[in-house]
Amino acid sequence: MKRVITYGTFDLLHYGHINLLRRARALGDYLIVALSTDEFNHEQKNKVCYFSYEERKTLLEAIRYVDLVIPEENWDQKRTDVHLYQVDTFVMGDDWKGKFDFLKEEGCEVVYLPRTPEISTTQIKNDLNNRES
Ligand code: CTP
Repeated sequence: MKRVITYGTFDLLHYGHINLLRRARALGDYLIVALSTDEFNHEQKNKVCYFSYEERKTLLEAIRYVDLVIPEENWDQKRTDVHLYQVDTFVMGDDWKGKFDFLKEEGCEVVYLPRTPEISTTQIKNDLNNRES
């Protein structure tokens, strides 16, 4: 069984996220999503989420492409996760291109998928703010 992993916040789930998850799952047979916790988002990524970790996790678990959701709590856990979860392929959107190539040293394939244009959580928040003003 080929196991794939991806990382992210996935707040205000949108079709860019679904596209990413569908293509990630198609690279193997089992997709793990390491979902950024509220603390990690706030303290390390400078992001405040609309939905809590548990809410974002519930949404992701309802997606047919997602087999397992685990917490992402720090930047350094990727090397460990790759071994712990016997990961064959690490996937991220190409906004992260080159950033995680070091995982190849762990015997893992590293793939950056093209982002879906013109949609992001930030974009949704900005559009809603602009509509209100
Ligand atoms: N992603 C994508 N296409 C988009 C938006 C996101 O492929 N239009 C991918 C990202 O590259 C990442 C994953 O989805 O691999 C989770 O991204 P995340 O940062 O949670 O979503 P964004 O919408 O980019 O959120 P933000 O605006 O807060 O950065």
